[in-house]
Amino acid sequence: MNKKQRILRMVGVAAASLTLFACAGMEGHDEHEEHEKADMTSSMSLNDLAIEAAKSEHLQAEHTANENIASAVRSATTDDAVSRLVLDRNIPVSYEYIATLMRQSNAFGQGPACVMCHSSNDPAKSYRGLDLTSCEGIKKGSMESPQRKIIYPGKKASKSLLRNHLRNNRMPFGVAFDYPTDAPNIIKVKKWIEAGAKNDANYKNIIQPLWSAKNAFGSPLACTDCHMSNQEPPSFHELDMTSYEGVMLGADSIAKAEEGLPPVKIVKPGDSAGSKLYQRLVQNRMPAGISPAEGRDHPNTALMISWVKQGAKCD
Ligand code: HEC
Ligand code: HEC
Repeated sequence: MNKKQRILRMVGVAAASLTLFACAGMEGHDEHEEHEKADMTSSMSLNDLAIEAAKSEHLQAEHTANENIASAVRSATTDDAVSRLVLDRNIPVSYEYIATLMRQSNAFGQGPACVMCHSSNDPAKSYRGLDLTSCEGIKKGSMESPQRKIIYPGKKASKSLLRNHLRNNRMPFGVAFDYPTDAPNIIKVKKWIEAGAKNDANYKNIIQPLWSAKNAFGSPLACTDCHMSNQEPPSFHELDMTSYEGVMLGADSIAKAEEGLPPVKIVKPGDSAGSKLYQRLVQNRMPAGISPAEGRDHPNTALMISWVKQGAKCD
């Protein structure tokens, strides 16, 4: 199952639109039959009533179905064009295009433009003192403490804050973006990682129970509701948070093994900032407030990453 399918499964759109698609396809046929019936007899049989009822229900569903289908078709073709015509051929992405993306609402899925909240190095005016209105500003990064870069031009993008904030949803999936990043349970996890992420009494009694507790991190969903074994489905990213061993093994152990690679570690003992487990608890997906159901592989995200890989040139 690929990432896009995972997300679709997540929001139940796949199943819903398939059913509705089948329903929409039958529409012409239903109508035709209806007309014939009306000609043959004016009295409504039980069967006719059932068809009428189904039709009105169907009409309501149809609107949603058409929207789902249109958006699936739209994204399939845009993704295709961008990946085949631009990314695969490594066509240079210009800063001019990046500048446009930063100023546009809905550039990476439904949400406000980046420059709405990141327009200056002054933290009083701009979140994290991050200025996304200029090429120099993007390269300079966040000027509020802790000061840090958000991209490493020419390098692989996987560790860049920019890429992570555009692609990764904060956990638990669907948690509000303003849930405090220094909430007591998040701090407990941070300290546990920094103290070496040991399987000690603190872990057994305090940390492990947090993974299966509802409302431990600002959401009625527990981590183990979605990360309960190393089998996907049902467990997202083949991540098993039901035991210390599972958490330390990391994500995608089976998928990676098929490629001859080790699992994706989510805990780096001693280094909370470098641990995906901690990052996922504190890093909000951007633009702030975007729905977690928005596809993570937006063509503009891929273009942004490509621009960075190509050296983040300002001309
Ligand atoms: C409605 C306001 C808002 C919008 C719009 C917004 N951000 Fe943010 N951004 C924030 C806030 C608040 C933070 C700091 C807290 C956090 O990480 O959630 C932040 C943090 C970040 C960070 C992390 C910086 C660091 O040093 O930790 C990056 C990178 C980022 N935003 C990029 C973007 C990009 C790219 C866009 C456009 C797609 C965007 N933001 C749109 C409010 C916003
Ligand atoms: C409703 C389901 C759901 C819940 C609840 C949930 N997750 Fe996730 N998790 C996901 C999905 C889906 C992804 C991957 C896609 C994404 O970023 O949205 C993911 C990805 C992750 C990753 C990244 C794995 C990797 O390979 O990089 C970590 C770490 C993670 N979750 C930890 C947690 C923690 C910790 C909790 C509890 C605080 C939690 N999750 C709760 C669905 C969930």
